[in-house]
Order: sequence, then structure tokens, then C-alpha cells
Amino acid sequence: MAIDNQVVINRKMAEVLAIKADFERFDEWVQAFRESDLKLVRWEDLKEGQAIDYALVWQPTTGMFDPHPEIKIIFSIGAGVDHMLGENVLPKGVPVVRMVETNLTLGMTEYVTYQILRHHRFMPLYEQFQRDKNWKEIIQIPASRRNVGIMGMGVLGTACAQVLKSFGFRLFGWSRSEKHIEGIEHYHGPEQLHTMLSYCDFLICLLPNTQETNHILCAKNLMHLPKQAVLINVGRGSLLVENDLITLLDSDHLSAAVLDVFQEEPLPTNSPLWNHPRITITPHVASMTVPETSAEHIWTNIKLYRLGHPLTHVADMQRGY
Ligand code: NAP
Ligand code: GLV
Repeated sequence: MAIDNQVVINRKMAEVLAIKADFERFDEWVQAFRESDLKLVRWEDLKEGQAIDYALVWQPTTGMFDPHPEIKIIFSIGAGVDHMLGENVLPKGVPVVRMVETNLTLGMTEYVTYQILRHHRFMPLYEQFQRDKNWKEIIQIPASRRNVGIMGMGVLGTACAQVLKSFGFRLFGWSRSEKHIEGIEHYHGPEQLHTMLSYCDFLICLLPNTQETNHILCAKNLMHLPKQAVLINVGRGSLLVENDLITLLDSDHLSAAVLDVFQEEPLPTNSPLWNHPRITITPHVASMTVPETSAEHIWTNIKLYRLGHPLTHVADMQRGY
């Protein structure tokens, strides 16, 4: 949305955006906000009694916002907001805006497309053949004969579907509400989940972690996938019952899994997932928020707020996403 900077800049006092994140790149954030009139402060550097207007946070802690009843908007550094839902963490009535930004979306489409193409073109097998010095061909399957399903057809799921569609895959989507997206066979609600799963040679999970999605990737549901399907979980670790996945892989119901998110992160060194020959593990890096492009999203929302307009991408904290 284009908003004239002059309408909202030139205030008497700079407003403060305080940043708290484990993976903070403070200098990059300052640079990213150079065209705004905001003063950026590290949360740790806030002086006693110093007022803040906005906060940009990853994992807020209990009581962290108590000294700041003046805060106007809390921005999540991540697309998900589940990590902010602890008891007495968020102040009541303050909007939480989740992260929706170009590079976070592009990063996810790259990761998911890479993993699908890798398995679609049998690369794990060819890598094994190379290790065995085995010159062996596998008959190629055209993308148009492969079905890719996406659980969670929000910002990221829809973007992944569009990119995968361009390769010729047949796309299936599943979400809470009914949708009509050209070129995608869409299903919604718990009663349509098993039907959708029954089509998916590849299943990508891009659901948020909520009470309803907890353990949704369990044997009872995953058994509805066709035999030899591949699971890619990039949503949250709480969605997957890890032992059920191992059972389904060991019984050859699933052929492989790609996991970027886990029940416990970092994944404990004694987890059986690490050594499983058909599981690919990455350390929650499928996609990352980039300060430069995130600043556009945050600054746009601050300008909307100053003009008294509705904000974009406000999370519904009751619903959990
Ligand atoms: P989003 O736009 O809010 O989309 C969430 C989707 O999930 C929506 O389509 C929603 O359905 C659907 N959904 C939620 N609850 C459901 C339920 N009970 N049954 C069926 N569908 C349900 O979120 P997003 O920006 O795409 O991000 C999705 C998630 O990706 C985040 O919450 C986060 O956990 C994860 N993520 C992971 C990484 C990583 O690096 N691994 C990076 C970014 C994000 P409706 O459309 O009907 O509301
Ligand atoms: C990362 O996991 C995010 O939610 O953006």
C-alpha cells in the first residue's frame, strides 16, 4: 500500500521501536529503517521509565511488557505467533502484527520447491548410486503425474502452490475456510482432510501451531496418504507425532520425510530422527525474516496506525494465528 511519507513523518519527537530477538541483527534493522522517522532501541538498552511506541519481538517473556502500558503495536519477527501465546506475556488489547514480507515468502517457496524437486527427480537415490559407483537409470515421472498437497493455504502455502504449479505438478490445498484458487483443488475443514490426503504424493505442511493443529500429522491422518508419499513439515514441530512418522517410514508407508521444525528445538542429540536414513533434517531455516523487506511491512503498518487506518496481518490471538 502506498502511503505518502510526508503525511506521517516530521513529528516533534521520534517514536521508539524496541527490538528483542535472539537472532538480532540490530545494525541491519537500523539500516532497514533509515527512511522512517523511528528511533530503534535494543530492548536490553531501554532506560528505566523510557517509553516505547512499538516492539519487534521473537520470544517475549512473561512480564516483559508490564512496564510499558503505552505500547501501541507488537510486531512478531516470525510469520507464526504461537511462541507469543504464553500466560501473561502479551498486554491485553494491543494488536499483534505477524510477519508477512517478500523474502520470508520467497525463502519458503525456494526451500519447498527444492525439496519437492529433489525427491521428484529421485536425487537421494542417485546420490546413493554415486556412492556405490552404480550407473543406473530410474524412469522419470512427469510432474503432471505427481500430486502435491499443501496443508495450510495461507500466505506461504499459497505462494508455494503457485510456484509448484508452474512446474506442472497437480496441486491440492487444505485450510480451515473454503477457498477458490485457480488451478488448485481445494479442500477445507476436518471432514475433508482425509480425502485431500488420499491424493498427495508429496505433502507439505505449512499450518500454524494451534490447539486444533497440534499432532495433526499423526498416523491416523498420515495413513490416508498414498503409499510411498513424501512428507515435508515446515510449519511447526508440534504438528507432527515424531514416533508415528518413524513407524510409517519403517513400514514403507512413507518413502521419505523432510523436517525443518521439531517438538524440541534444537533437536536433542539423542533423537532417533537424526540418524534415520530417510529423514532430511534442517535446523528451522526453511525461511528467514530479512530486515530490509520486513521494515517495509512494519513501517507501512505504523503509517496506517498513525493515519487511524486498519492494520494489515493482525494475528487473531484467540484463534492462534
Ligand atoms: P497464514 O497466512 O496465517 O496461513 C495459515 C494457514 O493455515 C491458513 O490457510 C489457515 O486456514 C490454515 N489453518 C490454520 N488452522 C487450521 C486448521 N485448524 N485447519 C485447517 N487449516 C488451518 O500463515 P503463513 O504466513 O502462511 O505461515 C504458516 C506457518 O508457517 C506459520 O504459522 C509458521 O508456523 C510456519 N513458518 C515456518 C517457517 C520456517 O522457517 N520453518 C518460516 C515461516 C513460517 P484459513 O486460510 O482458512 O485461515
Ligand atoms: C518462522 O518459523 C516463522 O514463523 O517466521
